Amino acid sequence: MTTGHVFIATSLDGFIARRDGAIDWLPGLETDPGENYGYDGFIESIDGLVMGRNSFEKALEFETWPYSRPTIVLSHTLDDMALRGDIRKAVEISRLAPGDLMAALAQRGWSRVHVDGGKVIQSFLREGLIADMVITRVPVLLGAGLPLFGALPADVSLAHDETRAYPSGLVQSRYRVR
Ligand SMILES: NC(=O)c1ccc[n+]([C@@H]2O[C@H](COP(=O)([O-])OP(=O)(O)OC[C@H]3O[C@@H](n4cnc5c(N)ncnc54)[C@H](OP(=O)(O)O)[C@@H]3O)[C@@H](O)[C@H]2O)c1
Repeated sequence: MTTGHVFIATSLDGFIARRDGAIDWLPGLETDPGENYGYDGFIESIDGLVMGRNSFEKALEFETWPYSRPTIVLSHTLDDMALRGDIRKAVEISRLAPGDLMAALAQRGWSRVHVDGGKVIQSFLREGLIADMVITRVPVLLGAGLPLFGALPADVSLAHDETRAYPSGLVQSRYRVR
């Protein structure tokens, strides 16, 4: 079975973006010089990404497409025709429900998927499709924004693997879903 893995940054009060989707408060890579917070190793470990339409639209604002792995965008409102020519090879749009998508990815031979975007992470958590989460807390309170977590049908019990504090004040914790 293909497993879902979260690697994401939040404000201390649990938001992944401002209400309008802005991520200007996320520190740049120069914050802890020479440090990539385990991101490169994480990306090496996954077969591809599954992200929500909102995260996809934010990524399109970057000068160049920021992901090196194949990406599946979950959307009921976009189709492949909406893809710019330069990212058509890297990105695919899917309308599949989370469980059906993971089954289809298993057929493709994908074993580990980076699941990204607040709403999409929440829907994968609800379906029991997330195996572990690396959450990097940025020392800022936004007061309002788009939450990482949301409603659940039942508690999701987690095992804490490790927490690491960086000189900049970023604090990264790894949890496994039990
Ligand atoms: N802090 C970080 O590290 C970090 C990381 C990633 C993203 N972000 C930010 O997070 C924001 C986006 O997060 P978000 O929570 O607004 O949305 P999201 O999860 O990226 O996208 C949600 C959208 O995906 C589509 N979708 C299709 N199937 C879905 C399903 N099963 N479950 C959920 N959504 C599904 C829907 O769009 P349709 O209407 O098209 O169907 C839905 O509105 C962006 O501003 C991005 O920059 C921050």
